[in-house]
Amino acid sequence: MASPSLTLHPPAKVNLYLAVLGRRPDGYHTLETLYERLDLADELCLTRTAAGLSLRCDDPAMPTDDRNLVIKAAKAFFQAAGISGGMEAVLTKRIPAAGGLGGGSSDAASALLGLNTLYGAPLDRARLMVLGAQLGADVPFFVSEAVVGWGRGRGDIITPAAPPAKPLWHVLVNPGVPVPTPAIYAQYDRLGAAALTPPRADGTLLGRLVQVGDPAAVAGQLANALEPAIEASYPAARSWKAVLSEAGALGVLISGSGSTTYGLATDETHARAIAARVRQRQPDWTVLTARTALPPPAQASEVRGDKHHPSSSAMRS
Ligand code: C5P
Repeated sequence: MASPSLTLHPPAKVNLYLAVLGRRPDGYHTLETLYERLDLADELCLTRTAAGLSLRCDDPAMPTDDRNLVIKAAKAFFQAAGISGGMEAVLTKRIPAAGGLGGGSSDAASALLGLNTLYGAPLDRARLMVLGAQLGADVPFFVSEAVVGWGRGRGDIITPAAPPAKPLWHVLVNPGVPVPTPAIYAQYDRLGAAALTPPRADGTLLGRLVQVGDPAAVAGQLANALEPAIEASYPAARSWKAVLSEAGALGVLISGSGSTTYGLATDETHARAIAARVRQRQPDWTVLTARTALPPPAQASEVRGDKHHPSSSAMRS
């Protein structure tokens, strides 16, 4: 009999709102952020093996040893579950790396969720959330599998929010500049009080507008307190936003610490038109369209490999 395997689709996220509320003694920053899960997703195939941890990845720039969050997640899982076992993982990257879309964090969350399924669910979700928080501040949002969720604390204390009545459409641009998150928070600290002012947008109002699913209204409340720090470190960041605005986006924001920048669109047709204009002006950028990853109306487990349902997974053995 073949070894049990599982295929998962770790989704990307964007931050619709990110306020920095303070700095903690451990160097992390206290945040209030609104995460949204997108239908842009990597693919992670996990196979249960008797022993050993291995990872292959189609992106040659991606480390596949202990530095990769998938391997770190697997080690954390086996240690916490107190079981011996192994994993063969094959990762296909579609989410731009180091781009503010949470790709590595999402891969780690899927590894935790997938291994837990393959090994008979020894850990409950609360335990997986704690393990996720040890791997990275964004990981618990992905472990929660919420479509939209508030992140507080380091961004790792998750309160699921009401998902939009209809998906929001985004145009994502990645100028190919990998931005190290710690450098942006360090720049944020260097900028001092001027940048510590919370965004003028109203997070509570934004949460309600997201639920309604009105892209123009949501566009008016997008906010990211890290933008001044990103623009100070990467002056070109202003052009990432300007190109999207000039191409007709309703509102634009850098996601997380960047460099991926997104614009909101009225609907799919509008998103594709904006993307076409940006590609024409910036042929070297990665330009993608993506929508909110709303749960499928039918059972997710029946929709194996459907790119519109990235959280869906199917087990075979
Ligand atoms: O948790 P994660 O590994 O994603 O965080 C990367 C870095 O980003 C941290 O080491 C820290 O420098 C910075 N960070 C922060 N405050 C947060 C999240 C991240 O200062 N809430």
